[in-house]
Amino acid sequence: MIPSEALAGATPDGSSTVRSIADRRAATPEGPVPGTVGVVGLGYVGLPTALGFAHHGASVVGFDIRADLRRYIARGATPVHEPGLPELLRDGLDAERFRVARSWSELARAADTFFLCLPTPSRPDGGIDLGALRAGSERLGRALRGRSSRPLVVVKSTVVPGTTEGTVRPILERASGKVGPELGVAANPEFIAEGSMVHDVLRPERVVLGVSDPRDAEALARLYAPFHVPVCSMPTAAAELVKYASNAFLAARVALANEISRLAEASGVDVDTVLTTVGRDPRIGPSFLSAGPGFGGSCFEKDLRALVAEGRRRKIPLTVVKGILRSNDEQAEHAFRLIDRAVGGARRRRIAVLGLAFKPGTDDVRGTRAEPIVRAALRAGARVRLHDPVALEKFRRAFRDRSGRPRRRGSVEFCRSVEDALRGADAAVLVTPWPEYGAFPRAWSREMRSPLVVDLRRALREDVRYRGDFLWVGLGTPSAAGIHPESATPISAVAEDGR
Ligand code: UDX
Repeated sequence: MIPSEALAGATPDGSSTVRSIADRRAATPEGPVPGTVGVVGLGYVGLPTALGFAHHGASVVGFDIRADLRRYIARGATPVHEPGLPELLRDGLDAERFRVARSWSELARAADTFFLCLPTPSRPDGGIDLGALRAGSERLGRALRGRSSRPLVVVKSTVVPGTTEGTVRPILERASGKVGPELGVAANPEFIAEGSMVHDVLRPERVVLGVSDPRDAEALARLYAPFHVPVCSMPTAAAELVKYASNAFLAARVALANEISRLAEASGVDVDTVLTTVGRDPRIGPSFLSAGPGFGGSCFEKDLRALVAEGRRRKIPLTVVKGILRSNDEQAEHAFRLIDRAVGGARRRRIAVLGLAFKPGTDDVRGTRAEPIVRAALRAGARVRLHDPVALEKFRRAFRDRSGRPRRRGSVEFCRSVEDALRGADAAVLVTPWPEYGAFPRAWSREMRSPLVVDLRRALREDVRYRGDFLWVGLGTPSAAGIHPESATPISAVAEDGR
């Protein structure tokens, strides 16, 4: 069974969500949903997508070009840290609603509707790299050649408007020999957030379908019927744009919250007091208004850069979108300046960084704000000790891969316990708000040379912040105003070798 926390995680009223999913599950007819679902790519998007369909009663076959990943998943192991995902996988395998195909042809024979869940990473110019999606479409198309029934191929990958019909369809048509109405092609972007994937995949706020043929609209609506969520059907390019527009709005809110937090600090007021009140305006709403060291993750920056590149290509200046990216970089710099001021200049200080994952609930370190902060601290001459409950190894690998040559020995240390990271530290910097950091027990502050906590997420419990055994400096709060400005590292020294 899936732990209730995994289902409840992302909702204010978790308990009722758990109940309603359990009820619906019981009510889902055992009878077949239309055909068998094939999922191409079993990564961050594909695996939860496949398991979501299986949970809601579909028969699902997954495939990934990485043989080791196929074997791993078929054995019931999940490749990423994600609450509830191991249980969802176990349920799918045990109920025989989910299995892993060993080849393209096995996948093509088994399924009727195929979801392409392949990565579309950023190219250096910000545009998306369609290499994996093109290759996957080509291989699937070839595997579909000669089959008698009409397949439906659905693009779940995040792609700029026009890609599904303009790039994926022609490749599929050429490779499969099926043209025009003989082949269904649709877009169905995902809105899964890491850390709450199981909830998001089982109970999405809405399903967005980009369809050009009413048969495909109907087949997909039937497939999603057991989810009991609103289904929004629209032209394919519109669905593709919904995904980018959604992430641009969310990222804009975070960037704006961060800018307001800088003003709040300077004005000696608390950013959460301001923004929770702002969020009470129903036109604005309360979510995504939590200031921090900037947004991270694999989506926001990549998608915003893709939008800017698309704007450039179409000669449409996307001034706000560019501004969000710039503001986000500035926020990481601002966060480092705050740390630097709080410790009275980072040079030779021992700084413990708590939290390396880009957000709690995941071991994903892609785009994590911990990275620019650690790099700025190292440039300023600090010694940095790092801790994360689950992402330590991933951060270590990503950091080494990007650093090239090894750094001065002892300047970065990876610590398995918080106590170890804090031993002899001049400051603890809280980057990722893992719940286990929130109580900051006295035993932790006792490990530190000078007990100072720079809390970039205001993640310490309110009763702990002013307990007296350490100095608390919270980003976006009056505590961040006017600390040691005279002894901080000059900004030019920090900025000289990059951002
Ligand atoms: C995002 C979208 O939410 C999801 O719909 C899409 O499918 C993929 O991109 P994800 O990147 O997993 O999901 O995480 P999200 O919860 O959106 O957070 C992104 C970043 O913004 C994180 O670094 C998070 O810490 C930060 N954030 C979020 C804030 O700093 N403040 C907030 O109020 C909310």
